Amino acid sequence: AAAYDMVVVSNRLPVDYVAGPGGATRWKSSPGGLVTALEPVMRAADGAWIGWAGVADREFAPFEHDGISIIPVPLSEQELEEYYEGFSNDTLWPLYHDVIAPPSFHREWWESYVRVNRRFADAAADAASEGAVVWVQDYQLQLVPRMLREARPDLVIGFFNHIPFPAYGIYSQLPWRRQVIDGLLGADVIGFQRAADAGNFGRAVRRLFGYPTRGSVIDVPEADGETRHVVARHFPISIDAASFEELARRPDVQARAKEIRHSLGDPEIVMLGVDRLDYTKGIRHRLKAFGELLRDGRLGVEEVTLVQVASPSRERVETYRQLRDEIELMVGRLNGDYSTLGHQAIAYLHHGYPREEMVALYLAADVMLVTALRDGMNLVAKEYVACRFDNDGVLLLSEFTGASDELRQAVLVNPHDIEGLKDSMIEAVRMPQRERARRMRSLRKRVRDNDVANWSATFLETLTGVGKIDPGVP
Ligand code: G6P
Repeated sequence: AAAYDMVVVSNRLPVDYVAGPGGATRWKSSPGGLVTALEPVMRAADGAWIGWAGVADREFAPFEHDGISIIPVPLSEQELEEYYEGFSNDTLWPLYHDVIAPPSFHREWWESYVRVNRRFADAAADAASEGAVVWVQDYQLQLVPRMLREARPDLVIGFFNHIPFPAYGIYSQLPWRRQVIDGLLGADVIGFQRAADAGNFGRAVRRLFGYPTRGSVIDVPEADGETRHVVARHFPISIDAASFEELARRPDVQARAKEIRHSLGDPEIVMLGVDRLDYTKGIRHRLKAFGELLRDGRLGVEEVTLVQVASPSRERVETYRQLRDEIELMVGRLNGDYSTLGHQAIAYLHHGYPREEMVALYLAADVMLVTALRDGMNLVAKEYVACRFDNDGVLLLSEFTGASDELRQAVLVNPHDIEGLKDSMIEAVRMPQRERARRMRSLRKRVRDNDVANWSATFLETLTGVGKIDPGVP
Protein backbone atom coordinates (compact mmCIF):
# COMPACT_ATOMS: atom_id res chain seq x y z
CA ALA A 1 0.00 0.00 0.00
CA ALA A 2 1.09 3.59 -0.68
CA ALA A 3 2.37 5.44 2.38
CA TYR A 4 1.86 9.17 2.67
CA ASP A 5 3.87 11.58 4.81
CA MET A 6 0.94 13.97 5.02
CA VAL A 7 -2.66 12.82 5.45
CA VAL A 8 -5.76 14.97 5.82
CA VAL A 9 -8.88 13.34 7.28
CA SER A 10 -12.23 15.09 6.93
CA ASN A 11 -15.83 13.99 6.70
CA ARG A 12 -16.15 15.27 3.15
CA LEU A 13 -13.66 14.74 0.38
CA PRO A 14 -12.79 17.80 -1.72
CA VAL A 15 -14.96 16.18 -4.40
CA ASP A 16 -18.51 14.79 -4.24
CA TYR A 17 -19.74 11.95 -6.39
CA VAL A 18 -22.85 13.13 -8.23
CA ALA A 19 -25.26 11.12 -10.34
CA GLY A 20 -26.57 13.06 -13.33
CA PRO A 21 -29.51 12.39 -15.65
CA GLY A 22 -29.47 9.15 -17.65
CA GLY A 23 -27.03 7.40 -15.33
CA ALA A 24 -24.20 9.85 -16.06
CA THR A 25 -21.89 10.40 -13.08
CA ARG A 26 -19.01 12.70 -12.29
CA TRP A 27 -16.87 14.11 -9.49
CA LYS A 28 -17.75 17.65 -8.52
CA SER A 29 -16.05 20.04 -6.07
CA SER A 30 -17.92 19.79 -2.78
CA PRO A 31 -19.33 22.75 -0.79
CA GLY A 32 -18.04 24.28 2.42
CA GLY A 33 -15.24 26.51 3.54
CA LEU A 34 -13.07 23.60 4.62
CA VAL A 35 -12.38 22.32 1.14
CA THR A 36 -11.61 25.79 -0.18
CA ALA A 37 -9.16 26.24 2.65
CA LEU A 38 -7.28 22.96 2.42
CA GLU A 39 -7.10 22.20 -1.29
CA PRO A 40 -4.12 24.47 -2.01
CA VAL A 41 -2.24 23.08 0.99
CA MET A 42 -2.76 19.49 -0.07
CA ARG A 43 -1.77 20.06 -3.67
CA ALA A 44 1.50 21.53 -2.46
CA ALA A 45 2.21 18.72 0.04
CA ASP A 46 1.50 15.83 -2.38
CA GLY A 47 -0.58 14.27 0.37
CA ALA A 48 -3.56 11.95 0.67
CA TRP A 49 -7.04 13.06 1.57
CA ILE A 50 -9.34 10.62 3.39
CA GLY A 51 -13.07 11.31 3.41
CA TRP A 52 -16.58 10.46 2.35
CA ALA A 53 -17.69 10.85 -1.29
CA GLY A 54 -21.08 12.34 -0.42
CA VAL A 55 -23.27 9.34 -1.37
CA ALA A 56 -24.42 6.42 0.75
CA ASP A 57 -23.91 2.72 0.05
CA ARG A 58 -21.18 3.15 -2.55
CA GLU A 59 -17.58 1.98 -2.39
CA PHE A 60 -14.88 3.68 -4.46
CA ALA A 61 -11.27 2.75 -5.04
CA PRO A 62 -8.65 5.41 -4.25
CA PHE A 63 -7.90 7.79 -7.14
CA GLU A 64 -6.09 10.99 -8.07
CA HIS A 65 -7.89 14.31 -8.43
CA ASP A 66 -6.16 17.59 -9.32
CA GLY A 67 -2.86 16.35 -7.94
CA ILE A 68 -4.32 15.04 -4.67
CA SER A 69 -4.61 11.33 -3.75
CA ILE A 70 -8.18 10.67 -2.75
CA ILE A 71 -9.03 7.79 -0.40
CA PRO A 72 -12.82 7.42 -0.11
CA VAL A 73 -14.41 6.06 3.09
CA PRO A 74 -17.86 4.50 2.58
CA LEU A 75 -20.96 5.30 4.66
CA SER A 76 -24.11 3.20 4.67
CA GLU A 77 -27.55 4.79 4.38
CA GLN A 78 -28.07 4.15 8.09
CA GLU A 79 -24.73 5.76 8.97
CA LEU A 80 -25.64 8.74 6.81
CA GLU A 81 -28.76 9.13 8.93
CA GLU A 82 -27.22 8.41 12.32
CA TYR A 83 -23.61 9.63 12.15
CA TYR A 84 -23.88 12.49 9.60
CA GLU A 85 -27.42 13.88 9.68
CA GLY A 86 -27.99 12.73 13.25
CA PHE A 87 -25.05 13.05 15.62
CA SER A 88 -22.92 15.45 13.54
CA ASN A 89 -25.61 17.79 12.30
CA ASP A 90 -28.53 17.39 14.71
CA THR A 91 -26.55 16.92 17.95
CA LEU A 92 -23.10 18.51 17.71
CA TRP A 93 -23.86 21.28 15.17
CA PRO A 94 -26.67 22.94 17.15
CA LEU A 95 -24.92 22.28 20.50
CA TYR A 96 -21.64 23.85 19.36
CA HIS A 97 -23.51 26.83 17.85
CA ASP A 98 -24.92 27.84 21.24
CA VAL A 99 -28.14 25.79 20.91
CA ILE A 100 -29.70 28.23 18.39
CA ALA A 101 -31.74 25.13 17.49
CA PRO A 102 -32.34 22.44 20.11
CA PRO A 103 -29.84 19.55 19.85
CA SER A 104 -31.20 15.98 19.83
CA PHE A 105 -29.46 13.36 21.94
CA HIS A 106 -29.84 9.75 20.79
CA ARG A 107 -27.75 6.83 21.97
CA GLU A 108 -27.95 5.05 18.57
CA TRP A 109 -26.55 8.18 16.88
CA TRP A 110 -23.64 8.24 19.31
CA GLU A 111 -22.89 4.56 18.65
CA SER A 112 -22.90 5.21 14.93
CA TYR A 113 -20.58 8.23 15.45
CA VAL A 114 -18.11 5.99 17.32
CA ARG A 115 -18.22 3.29 14.61
CA VAL A 116 -17.73 5.74 11.75
CA ASN A 117 -14.94 7.61 13.55
CA ARG A 118 -13.24 4.21 13.97
CA ARG A 119 -13.47 3.60 10.22
CA PHE A 120 -11.84 6.97 9.43
CA ALA A 121 -9.11 6.31 12.01
CA ASP A 122 -8.40 2.87 10.49
CA ALA A 123 -8.15 4.38 7.00
CA ALA A 124 -5.69 7.00 8.26
CA ALA A 125 -3.63 4.38 10.13
CA ASP A 126 -3.35 2.41 6.84
CA ALA A 127 -2.40 5.39 4.67
CA ALA A 128 0.16 7.14 6.89
CA SER A 129 3.87 6.42 6.60
CA GLU A 130 6.10 5.96 9.69
CA GLY A 131 6.14 9.25 11.64
CA ALA A 132 3.74 10.94 9.19
CA VAL A 133 1.69 14.04 9.93
CA VAL A 134 -2.06 13.38 10.07
CA TRP A 135 -4.36 16.37 10.19
CA VAL A 136 -7.93 15.58 11.27
CA GLN A 137 -10.66 18.12 10.49
CA ASP A 138 -13.78 19.22 12.25
CA TYR A 139 -16.56 18.17 14.60
CA GLN A 140 -17.63 15.08 12.65
CA LEU A 141 -14.36 13.33 13.58
CA GLN A 142 -13.51 14.31 17.15
CA LEU A 143 -12.79 10.74 18.27
CA VAL A 144 -10.27 10.06 15.50
CA PRO A 145 -7.18 11.59 17.22
CA ARG A 146 -7.36 9.24 20.23
CA MET A 147 -8.22 6.17 18.11
CA LEU A 148 -5.36 6.94 15.76
CA ARG A 149 -2.83 7.49 18.56
CA GLU A 150 -3.70 4.11 20.06
CA ALA A 151 -3.19 2.37 16.71
CA ARG A 152 -0.16 4.41 15.59
CA PRO A 153 1.78 6.10 18.42
CA ASP A 154 4.49 7.07 15.91
CA LEU A 155 2.27 9.62 14.14
CA VAL A 156 2.13 13.38 14.64
CA ILE A 157 -1.57 14.16 14.98
CA GLY A 158 -3.29 17.52 14.55
CA PHE A 159 -6.95 18.38 14.88
CA PHE A 160 -8.70 21.54 13.72
CA ASN A 161 -12.22 22.45 14.80
CA HIS A 162 -13.78 24.64 12.10
CA ILE A 163 -16.87 25.50 14.12
CA PRO A 164 -17.18 27.22 17.52
CA PHE A 165 -16.49 25.39 20.78
CA PRO A 166 -19.24 26.35 23.24
CA ALA A 167 -19.07 27.53 26.84
CA TYR A 168 -19.02 24.76 29.46
CA GLY A 169 -22.61 25.40 30.56
CA ILE A 170 -23.72 24.40 27.06
CA TYR A 171 -21.08 21.78 26.29
CA SER A 172 -21.83 19.94 29.52
CA GLN A 173 -25.30 19.01 28.21
CA LEU A 174 -23.64 16.46 25.95
CA PRO A 175 -24.13 12.99 27.49
CA TRP A 176 -20.78 11.89 25.95
CA ARG A 177 -18.88 15.02 26.99
CA ARG A 178 -15.96 13.10 28.52
CA GLN A 179 -15.52 10.72 25.59
CA VAL A 180 -15.43 13.56 23.06
CA ILE A 181 -12.79 15.53 24.96
CA ASP A 182 -10.74 12.41 25.54
CA GLY A 183 -10.96 11.75 21.79
CA LEU A 184 -9.63 15.23 20.98
CA LEU A 185 -6.83 15.00 23.55
CA GLY A 186 -5.31 12.20 21.47
CA ALA A 187 -3.99 14.96 19.19
CA ASP A 188 -0.69 16.82 19.67
CA VAL A 189 -2.21 20.13 18.62
CA ILE A 190 -5.91 21.05 18.82
CA GLY A 191 -6.75 24.14 16.79
CA PHE A 192 -9.72 26.47 17.16
CA GLN A 193 -10.92 29.52 15.23
CA ARG A 194 -11.06 32.03 18.08
CA ALA A 195 -9.19 32.52 21.34
CA ALA A 196 -12.61 32.28 23.03
CA ASP A 197 -13.16 28.77 21.58
CA ALA A 198 -9.78 27.57 22.86
CA GLY A 199 -10.61 29.11 26.24
CA ASN A 200 -13.93 27.23 26.38
CA PHE A 201 -12.14 24.00 25.52
CA GLY A 202 -9.49 24.52 28.22
CA ARG A 203 -12.20 25.14 30.83
CA ALA A 204 -14.07 21.98 29.77
CA VAL A 205 -10.84 19.96 30.14
CA ARG A 206 -10.26 21.34 33.63
CA ARG A 207 -13.86 20.82 34.75
CA LEU A 208 -14.19 17.29 33.40
CA PHE A 209 -10.66 15.92 33.89
CA GLY A 210 -8.83 18.35 36.15
CA TYR A 211 -5.70 18.22 33.95
CA PRO A 212 -3.33 21.10 34.60
CA THR A 213 -3.14 23.73 31.85
CA ARG A 214 -0.46 26.41 31.45
CA GLY A 215 -1.33 28.92 28.77
CA SER A 216 -2.16 26.87 25.70
CA VAL A 217 -0.44 23.70 26.95
CA ILE A 218 -2.45 20.92 28.61
CA ASP A 219 -0.63 18.18 30.54
CA VAL A 220 -2.36 14.93 29.67
CA PRO A 221 -1.40 11.93 31.82
CA GLU A 222 -1.21 8.74 29.74
CA ALA A 223 -1.77 5.10 30.73
CA ASP A 224 2.00 4.41 30.70
CA GLY A 225 2.55 7.04 33.41
CA GLU A 226 4.06 9.55 30.97
CA THR A 227 2.70 13.07 30.55
CA ARG A 228 1.95 14.36 27.05
CA HIS A 229 1.92 18.09 26.36
CA VAL A 230 -1.04 18.93 24.14
CA VAL A 231 -1.28 22.40 22.61
CA ALA A 232 -4.81 23.88 22.34
CA ARG A 233 -4.99 27.36 20.84
CA HIS A 234 -6.54 29.45 18.11
CA PHE A 235 -5.48 29.49 14.45
CA PRO A 236 -8.02 31.63 12.57
CA ILE A 237 -8.60 30.07 9.15
CA SER A 238 -8.61 32.10 5.97
CA ILE A 239 -8.90 31.93 2.19
CA ASP A 240 -6.57 31.97 -0.79
CA ALA A 241 -6.89 35.77 -1.03
CA ALA A 242 -4.68 36.17 -4.12
CA SER A 243 -6.67 33.69 -6.19
CA PHE A 244 -9.93 35.52 -5.35
CA GLU A 245 -8.39 38.84 -6.33
CA GLU A 246 -7.07 37.31 -9.54
CA LEU A 247 -10.56 36.16 -10.48
CA ALA A 248 -12.01 39.54 -9.58
CA ARG A 249 -9.55 41.26 -11.90
CA ARG A 250 -10.55 39.11 -14.89
CA PRO A 251 -12.38 41.21 -17.53
CA ASP A 252 -15.02 38.52 -18.14
CA VAL A 253 -15.81 38.35 -14.41
CA GLN A 254 -16.13 42.14 -14.24
CA ALA A 255 -18.38 42.11 -17.29
CA ARG A 256 -20.50 39.49 -15.57
CA ALA A 257 -20.77 41.72 -12.47
CA LYS A 258 -22.15 44.56 -14.64
CA GLU A 259 -24.53 42.14 -16.32
CA ILE A 260 -25.81 41.00 -12.91
CA ARG A 261 -26.57 44.59 -11.85
CA HIS A 262 -28.24 45.22 -15.19
CA SER A 263 -30.43 42.13 -14.93
CA LEU A 264 -31.55 43.38 -11.50
CA GLY A 265 -32.83 46.58 -13.16
CA ASP A 266 -29.68 48.63 -12.43
CA PRO A 267 -30.63 49.55 -8.85
CA GLU A 268 -28.52 52.20 -7.14
CA ILE A 269 -27.64 49.81 -4.34
CA VAL A 270 -27.20 46.05 -4.41
CA MET A 271 -27.10 44.28 -1.06
CA LEU A 272 -25.90 40.69 -0.96
CA GLY A 273 -26.18 37.71 1.36
CA VAL A 274 -24.36 34.44 0.57
CA ASP A 275 -24.88 31.52 2.93
CA ARG A 276 -25.48 27.82 3.16
CA LEU A 277 -29.14 27.62 4.06
CA ASP A 278 -28.45 27.17 7.78
CA TYR A 279 -30.14 28.50 10.93
CA THR A 280 -26.80 29.69 12.26
CA LYS A 281 -26.51 32.26 9.47
CA GLY A 282 -29.16 34.72 10.67
CA ILE A 283 -30.92 34.89 7.28
CA ARG A 284 -34.32 35.51 8.90
CA HIS A 285 -32.96 38.39 11.01
CA ARG A 286 -31.49 39.96 7.88
CA LEU A 287 -34.78 39.60 5.95
CA LYS A 288 -36.76 41.00 8.86
CA ALA A 289 -34.56 44.09 9.11
CA PHE A 290 -34.62 44.61 5.34
CA GLY A 291 -38.41 44.22 5.20
CA GLU A 292 -38.90 46.78 7.98
CA LEU A 293 -36.66 49.29 6.20
CA LEU A 294 -38.87 48.95 3.12
CA ARG A 295 -42.04 49.15 5.23
CA ASP A 296 -40.83 52.28 7.03
CA GLY A 297 -39.79 53.90 3.75
CA ARG A 298 -36.15 54.21 4.87
CA LEU A 299 -35.26 52.21 1.74
CA GLY A 300 -37.22 51.99 -1.53
CA VAL A 301 -37.36 49.17 -4.08
CA GLU A 302 -36.39 51.51 -6.93
CA GLU A 303 -33.22 52.25 -5.01
CA VAL A 304 -32.11 48.91 -3.54
CA THR A 305 -32.28 45.19 -4.26
CA LEU A 306 -31.25 42.43 -1.89
CA VAL A 307 -29.72 39.37 -3.54
CA GLN A 308 -29.84 36.37 -1.22
CA VAL A 309 -27.98 33.24 -2.26
CA ALA A 310 -29.00 30.36 0.03
CA SER A 311 -27.19 27.23 -1.10
CA PRO A 312 -28.96 23.96 -0.30
CA SER A 313 -27.55 22.17 2.74
CA ARG A 314 -28.40 19.09 4.88
CA GLU A 315 -31.85 19.01 3.33
CA ARG A 316 -33.06 15.83 5.04
CA VAL A 317 -32.57 17.24 8.54
CA GLU A 318 -35.92 18.51 9.84
CA THR A 319 -34.61 21.80 11.29
CA TYR A 320 -33.17 22.67 7.88
CA ARG A 321 -36.44 21.84 6.08
CA GLN A 322 -38.35 24.06 8.48
CA LEU A 323 -35.88 26.89 8.04
CA ARG A 324 -36.20 26.68 4.27
CA ASP A 325 -39.99 26.94 4.53
CA GLU A 326 -39.73 29.93 6.87
CA ILE A 327 -37.23 31.78 4.70
CA GLU A 328 -39.18 31.15 1.51
CA LEU A 329 -42.40 32.30 3.17
CA MET A 330 -40.68 35.51 4.28
CA VAL A 331 -39.13 36.15 0.85
CA GLY A 332 -42.47 35.51 -0.88
CA ARG A 333 -44.32 37.86 1.47
CA LEU A 334 -41.75 40.64 1.24
CA ASN A 335 -41.65 40.42 -2.55
CA GLY A 336 -45.45 40.36 -2.68
CA ASP A 337 -45.68 43.42 -0.45
CA TYR A 338 -42.89 45.57 -1.85
CA SER A 339 -41.81 44.50 -5.36
CA THR A 340 -43.05 46.42 -8.40
CA LEU A 341 -43.18 45.12 -11.96
CA GLY A 342 -39.85 46.77 -12.71
CA HIS A 343 -38.10 46.26 -9.37
CA GLN A 344 -37.84 43.18 -7.24
CA ALA A 345 -37.17 43.68 -3.53
CA ILE A 346 -35.37 40.36 -3.05
CA ALA A 347 -33.72 38.11 -5.63
CA TYR A 348 -33.67 34.76 -3.84
CA LEU A 349 -31.51 31.96 -5.23
CA HIS A 350 -31.62 28.48 -3.75
CA HIS A 351 -28.53 27.22 -5.58
CA GLY A 352 -24.83 26.79 -5.19
CA TYR A 353 -22.70 28.63 -7.77
CA PRO A 354 -19.23 28.19 -9.23
CA ARG A 355 -16.44 30.37 -7.88
CA GLU A 356 -16.47 32.78 -10.89
CA GLU A 357 -20.14 33.58 -10.44
CA MET A 358 -19.66 34.17 -6.70
CA VAL A 359 -16.83 36.60 -7.40
CA ALA A 360 -18.99 38.44 -9.96
CA LEU A 361 -21.72 38.70 -7.32
CA TYR A 362 -19.24 40.10 -4.77
CA LEU A 363 -18.14 42.72 -7.32
CA ALA A 364 -21.77 43.59 -8.05
CA ALA A 365 -22.61 44.11 -4.36
CA ASP A 366 -22.33 47.53 -2.68
CA VAL A 367 -23.10 46.05 0.72
CA MET A 368 -22.28 42.51 1.89
CA LEU A 369 -24.50 41.26 4.71
CA VAL A 370 -23.03 38.68 7.09
CA THR A 371 -25.46 38.41 10.00
CA ALA A 372 -24.65 34.98 11.45
CA LEU A 373 -25.93 34.29 14.97
CA ARG A 374 -22.88 32.09 15.53
CA ASP A 375 -20.19 31.11 13.04
CA GLY A 376 -16.76 29.53 13.54
CA MET A 377 -15.11 31.91 11.07
CA ASN A 378 -17.29 32.89 8.04
CA LEU A 379 -15.13 32.80 4.96
CA VAL A 380 -17.72 34.64 2.84
CA ALA A 381 -16.76 37.83 4.69
CA LYS A 382 -13.10 37.30 3.79
CA GLU A 383 -13.91 36.37 0.18
CA TYR A 384 -15.88 39.59 -0.32
CA VAL A 385 -13.00 41.67 1.01
CA ALA A 386 -10.40 39.80 -1.06
CA CYS A 387 -12.35 40.49 -4.25
CA ARG A 388 -12.74 44.26 -3.69
CA PHE A 389 -9.46 45.39 -5.27
CA ASP A 390 -11.33 48.61 -6.14
CA ASN A 391 -11.32 49.40 -2.38
CA ASP A 392 -15.05 49.86 -2.51
CA GLY A 393 -18.03 48.07 -1.00
CA VAL A 394 -19.11 47.83 2.63
CA LEU A 395 -18.92 44.70 4.77
CA LEU A 396 -21.59 44.47 7.46
CA LEU A 397 -20.44 41.73 9.83
CA SER A 398 -21.92 39.99 12.85
CA GLU A 399 -19.78 40.10 15.97
CA PHE A 400 -20.73 36.45 16.54
CA THR A 401 -18.47 35.30 13.71
CA GLY A 402 -14.81 34.36 14.11
CA ALA A 403 -14.05 36.77 11.26
CA SER A 404 -15.11 39.73 13.43
CA ASP A 405 -12.04 39.18 15.67
CA GLU A 406 -9.86 40.21 12.72
CA LEU A 407 -12.11 42.35 10.52
CA ARG A 408 -12.58 45.20 12.98
CA GLN A 409 -13.08 47.80 10.23
CA ALA A 410 -16.31 46.18 9.07
CA VAL A 411 -19.63 47.63 10.22
CA LEU A 412 -20.02 45.29 13.21
CA VAL A 413 -23.53 44.29 14.25
CA ASN A 414 -25.47 42.27 16.80
CA PRO A 415 -28.01 40.55 14.50
CA HIS A 416 -30.41 39.90 17.39
CA ASP A 417 -30.86 43.66 17.74
CA ILE A 418 -33.17 44.31 14.78
CA GLU A 419 -33.25 48.11 15.33
CA GLY A 420 -29.46 48.21 15.51
CA LEU A 421 -29.21 46.01 12.44
CA LYS A 422 -31.53 48.34 10.50
CA ASP A 423 -29.48 51.40 11.51
CA SER A 424 -26.27 49.63 10.48
CA MET A 425 -27.75 48.65 7.12
CA ILE A 426 -28.64 52.30 6.50
CA GLU A 427 -25.17 53.37 7.66
CA ALA A 428 -23.65 50.90 5.17
CA VAL A 429 -25.88 52.06 2.30
CA ARG A 430 -25.19 55.76 2.97
CA MET A 431 -21.48 55.51 3.83
CA PRO A 432 -19.42 58.16 1.98
CA GLN A 433 -16.98 56.87 -0.61
CA ARG A 434 -13.86 58.01 1.29
CA GLU A 435 -14.95 56.19 4.41
CA ARG A 436 -15.70 53.04 2.39
CA ALA A 437 -12.23 53.15 0.83
CA ARG A 438 -10.52 53.75 4.17
CA ARG A 439 -12.21 50.76 5.77
CA MET A 440 -11.84 48.44 2.79
CA ARG A 441 -8.10 49.14 2.55
CA SER A 442 -7.58 48.13 6.13
CA LEU A 443 -9.81 45.03 5.79
CA ARG A 444 -7.94 43.95 2.67
CA LYS A 445 -4.61 44.23 4.43
CA ARG A 446 -5.85 41.93 7.21
CA VAL A 447 -7.10 39.30 4.76
CA ARG A 448 -3.91 39.43 2.67
CA ASP A 449 -1.64 39.23 5.74
CA ASN A 450 -3.35 36.13 7.10
CA ASP A 451 -4.33 34.03 4.12
CA VAL A 452 -4.90 30.29 4.06
CA ALA A 453 -1.27 29.47 3.27
CA ASN A 454 -0.36 31.35 6.42
CA TRP A 455 -2.99 29.51 8.43
CA SER A 456 -1.87 26.04 7.40
CA ALA A 457 1.83 26.91 7.71
CA THR A 458 1.30 28.22 11.26
CA PHE A 459 -0.71 25.16 12.26
CA LEU A 460 1.73 22.69 10.72
CA GLU A 461 4.77 24.47 12.21
CA THR A 462 3.16 24.26 15.63
CA LEU A 463 2.35 20.61 15.03
CA THR A 464 5.83 19.58 13.96
CA GLY A 465 7.35 21.71 16.75
CA VAL A 466 5.40 20.12 19.63
CA GLY A 467 8.13 17.65 20.48
CA LYS A 468 10.27 20.68 21.38
CA ILE A 469 7.86 22.24 23.87
CA ASP A 470 9.65 23.12 27.06
CA PRO A 471 7.33 21.83 29.80
CA GLY A 472 8.49 24.59 32.13
CA VAL A 473 7.37 27.42 29.85
CA PRO A 474 3.71 28.45 29.60
C1 G6P B 1 -19.15 23.80 7.60
C2 G6P B 1 -18.40 22.71 8.34
C3 G6P B 1 -17.77 21.73 7.36
C4 G6P B 1 -18.80 21.23 6.37
C5 G6P B 1 -19.49 22.40 5.67
C6 G6P B 1 -20.60 21.95 4.70
O1 G6P B 1 -18.26 24.63 6.92
O2 G6P B 1 -17.43 23.27 9.19
O3 G6P B 1 -17.20 20.64 8.06
O4 G6P B 1 -18.21 20.38 5.42
O5 G6P B 1 -20.07 23.23 6.66
O6 G6P B 1 -21.53 21.13 5.35
P1 G6P B 1 -21.79 19.61 4.92
O7 G6P B 1 -22.62 19.03 5.99
O8 G6P B 1 -22.52 19.70 3.61
O9 G6P B 1 -20.46 18.94 4.76
